[in-house]
Amino acid sequence: MKYFIKTFGCQMNVHESEKLAGMLESLNYLRADKADDADVVVFNTCCIRDGVEQKIMGNIGAIKKLKKANPNMIVAICGCMSQADGRSDMIFKKFPFVDIIFGTHNLHKFKELLTCFKDNHQKISDVWSEANGIFEDTNIVRDDMFSNAWVNINFGCNNFCSYCIVPYVRGRERSRDYRDIVRECEGLVSSGYKYITLLGQNVNSYGNDFEDKSINFAFLLKKVAEIEGDFKIKFMTSHPKDLSEEVIKTIAQNDKICKVIHLPIQSGSNQILKAMNRKYTREHYLGLIELIRKYIPDAYISTDIIVGFPGETEENFLDTYNLVKTVRYDGVFAFMFSKRSGTVAYSMPNQIDEATKKDRIHRLLQLTKSITKEKNQELVGKTVDIIAVHEVDGLFECMTDSGKTIFVNGKLTPNNFYKCKITKFANNKLFADLI
Ligand code: 5AD
Ligand code: SF4
Repeated sequence: MKYFIKTFGCQMNVHESEKLAGMLESLNYLRADKADDADVVVFNTCCIRDGVEQKIMGNIGAIKKLKKANPNMIVAICGCMSQADGRSDMIFKKFPFVDIIFGTHNLHKFKELLTCFKDNHQKISDVWSEANGIFEDTNIVRDDMFSNAWVNINFGCNNFCSYCIVPYVRGRERSRDYRDIVRECEGLVSSGYKYITLLGQNVNSYGNDFEDKSINFAFLLKKVAEIEGDFKIKFMTSHPKDLSEEVIKTIAQNDKICKVIHLPIQSGSNQILKAMNRKYTREHYLGLIELIRKYIPDAYISTDIIVGFPGETEENFLDTYNLVKTVRYDGVFAFMFSKRSGTVAYSMPNQIDEATKKDRIHRLLQLTKSITKEKNQELVGKTVDIIAVHEVDGLFECMTDSGKTIFVNGKLTPNNFYKCKITKFANNKLFADLI
């Protein structure tokens, strides 16, 4: 028997699919390369923007044909879209061939739901309205053998940014016990994983739900960095209202922690930040960037930006545009505002038309493209840390801690860390010599 999981959305979902794979393999299912060959097909869904939901619907629709050819195929839908209000009814109505729908809070129950369906052949819709604790000891089948391992540190979000559906589909913030996290990381290091990425909707609020206030994100970073072995730590995502000087110093002072910070600004306009309920100002954010650059001059800083939030004027947009010019990000993920039902921004007046959103995202992406090019040129002559991936045409393809590809001259062993000196940026590619 074989399974196929199609994942949409963020790293949290990617990691949860690894847990689903663990459950299926413990039931003796083997991984299939495509849905056509699978006895169980799972769609792990996302609902952050309308475009993603449309794409998912298209993908589910395409399964109809396969199910006709193989009526015993079991089709399950889970994740953020199944959890969102009214979606499970809509999915069953639109796609009557779907067998099981479950949400984000009962992911750990998938094995039971599948077994129950196989016994009774009755459609199952089981979406819990809230989370019921944290489930440890799941069997995880990781996709990325030995390079990067995802580790959850906190779940859910308490921030209620006015555009965002995450707090509604992922529930309130809860942090894992740091001893469980450290134990999981120790296991990963001893099995050879080179990167551990700590995952949370807002990693900087790790431990806010604990009585012992000394257990915070800086504490956790230090604990994980104390683990013996040849590995590095990454983390995502940081919220500017909670990123502390102590965390920045911890990153700066620890060789095991990658100097890579994803710090979503969302908008450079104080008026829009207020309407977004982000709880920081442009000035506070720029202060954080200054602090990061003071302690970690070579930090790789990336961000998320939403253009066309309700009420965003050309002047508000230019505040964002000019902030991007000032910060000179290493990476920008820009999105057009998408109305999500249930959120505060859904019914805000002065919604922006699609043409204006498209024009703004286009201008922003043009700017970020030219900044990225300049930044790559500035890397020439610099020494950077890399991990070897594989040989291509006599060169070794390597990756920086931030995920940039570099072609290195030299004989390297895959999955080992090295240092290299960048020699050339040509045809949008970086080349280097081994040090
Ligand atoms: N519309 C557009 N972008 C959104 N994001 C979150 N919600 C929305 C929305 N309704 C973006 C934010 C967030 C990223 C993961 O997705 O920029 O940081
Ligand atoms: Fe959404 Fe804001 Fe929470 Fe991030 S911090 S998940 S943008 S509500």
